[in-house]
Amino acid sequence: MDTPHSAEAAADRRASNTVTAVGGLAVVALALVFLFNSNVFTSNWYAFFKWVHVTGAVLWVGGGLALTILALWAERKQDPAEMAMLARQAAFIGQRVFAPVGLLVLLAGIGMVINLHWGWGTSWIVIGLVGYAITFLTGLLVLGPQAKRIGLLIETVGAEAAETQAAIKRILLIARVDEGVLLLVVAAMILKPFT
Ligand code: HEM
Repeated sequence: MDTPHSAEAAADRRASNTVTAVGGLAVVALALVFLFNSNVFTSNWYAFFKWVHVTGAVLWVGGGLALTILALWAERKQDPAEMAMLARQAAFIGQRVFAPVGLLVLLAGIGMVINLHWGWGTSWIVIGLVGYAITFLTGLLVLGPQAKRIGLLIETVGAEAAETQAAIKRILLIARVDEGVLLLVVAAMILKPFT
C-alpha cells in the first residue's frame, strides 16, 4: 500500500515527467517550424536528416565528453566509490542512450548521402563510416563486456578492490580514446578535408 510519503513522491515524479515531456515536445515543434521555414537546404528531407544527425551527434559526443571530464576529475580525487559510480553511470548511458542515438546519427547520415548524392567514396564520409565502425565495434566487443565484468567485480570483490579499480580505470581510458575518434569524425564532417 502507498504511504502518504510515497504517494507524494509519485505525484512529484509525474509532475516532473509532464514538464519534461511538454518541454521536449515544444522544442521539437519549434525546431520543425524552423525546418519548414529554412531556405538553406535543397529539400526538407535533407534539412530533417541534418537536424536529426547533428542533434544526435551533439547529444552523443557532448554526453561522452561530460563523462570523460567527470572521469578525469574522479581519478584526480582518487575516490574509488566515485569511480565505481561513474563506471556504472557510463555503462547505463552508453547502452541506453549513446547506442540508439549513434544508430540514429548513422541512419540520418546515410539519408543525407542518398538524398544529396554526396557519393560514398567522398573522403569525409569514408572517415565518418570508419569512425562509426570503430566506435560500434569498441562498444560491442570491449566496452559492453568490460562493463558487465566490472558490475560482477563490484558485486563479488567490491568497488574498492584493486582489481575492480584497475578494470574501471581501463574502461574509462578506452572510452576516452573512443571519444577522441568521435571528435575526429566531427572535425572531418565540419572541415570536409581532402575534397
Ligand atoms: C561517427 C559519428 C558521426 C558524427 C559524430 C557526425 C557529426 C556530424 C556533424 C557535427 C555534422 C555537421 C557538419 C556541418 O554542418 O558543418 C555532420 C554532417 C554530415 N554528416 Fe556526419 N557524423 C557522423 C557520421 C556520419 C556518417 C557515418 C555519415 C554518412 C553515412 C555522415 C554524413 C554526414 C553528412 C552527409 C553531413 C552533412 C554535410 C553538409 O550538409 O554539409 N556522418 N556530421
